[in-house]
Amino acid sequence: MALTAATPQQLRDSGSLEELYGHLATVDMGPGWNKKTPSLYPTPKNKFPPAQWRYTQAKAALDAAGRLINTDLAERRNLILTNVKAGSDYATATTLVAAYQMIMPGEHARSHRHSPNALRLIVDAEPGTYTVVDGVRLEMMPGDVLLTPNWCWHGHGNDGKSNGYWIDFLDVPLVHLLEPMFFEPNPDEYAKGQKPSKGSAMYFAWSETEARLFGASPEPTGRYGTQVELGSPAMETIALHMMKLGPNSSTSPYRTTANTIYSPVEGEGETVVEGEVFAWKRGDVLVVPSWQKHFHRTAKGGVLFRVTDEPVMSKLGFLREDHGKGLR
Ligand SMILES: [Fe+2]
Repeated sequence: MALTAATPQQLRDSGSLEELYGHLATVDMGPGWNKKTPSLYPTPKNKFPPAQWRYTQAKAALDAAGRLINTDLAERRNLILTNVKAGSDYATATTLVAAYQMIMPGEHARSHRHSPNALRLIVDAEPGTYTVVDGVRLEMMPGDVLLTPNWCWHGHGNDGKSNGYWIDFLDVPLVHLLEPMFFEPNPDEYAKGQKPSKGSAMYFAWSETEARLFGASPEPTGRYGTQVELGSPAMETIALHMMKLGPNSSTSPYRTTANTIYSPVEGEGETVVEGEVFAWKRGDVLVVPSWQKHFHRTAKGGVLFRVTDEPVMSKLGFLREDHGKGLR
């Protein structure tokens, strides 16, 4: 039963704090000096823990889904990487969500567009697997990265002979928070695309990224191994980097307010997050949420794809990094 709103006279005549609190509750106000949990605190609360997902498990589950559901019924055949320990029912980190997706030979995933920014890292695919972005057909091969920024039409297809697997990364949780969500199915349901006449800004071929990494020098802070950026940044809300870690190497520990999702493109190794060790291989996904100290180490060497919300934090003035000696 709704409480009857206290009158200004009743509020004014409150004889004790308890009586005042009772009256305030009837007018949807609360005493800031008596709040149970503080609204301001000295450092981030780390609401999302680090978490990891295995490609071997995702691939097996997607293969089962391939038998059980088709792209007529599922807008996308994907597995959402929910950070359940954070109490989340969707998000991987505060601002980002990742998902594994698979498309089978002969299938086409309908074209649509939405305000969230999205990108994908291809894990396994053979020629014939593609995404159409605003009428341009982009082939998808392992290690390739494709962008579908805010409001770009995009659909997927597979004219090849084997299943195509990739990892999607989106800023949907950020859009949920800020609320500007828009979505529209393409009236031309399975939009066809033409091959690009020259290089597309939506496409980063692994062959080119690998050549750039080969020619790059180690990043001077020691935090990122040898690193190249894809785009500058790739999208309004998301920055993308590829980090090459040499054999028997270790990066410098640091923490950043940016949320980071890693996916190994090559090799294997470990990431240590606040003392917890996560061993990774190609195709796995590891989230290191905001303000958690971490570093990478590898015996065999490897390449890590690094997806962050750095552009958001930077534009809003919230990007902070800590790489002091106290972290070592
Ligand atoms: Fe989409």
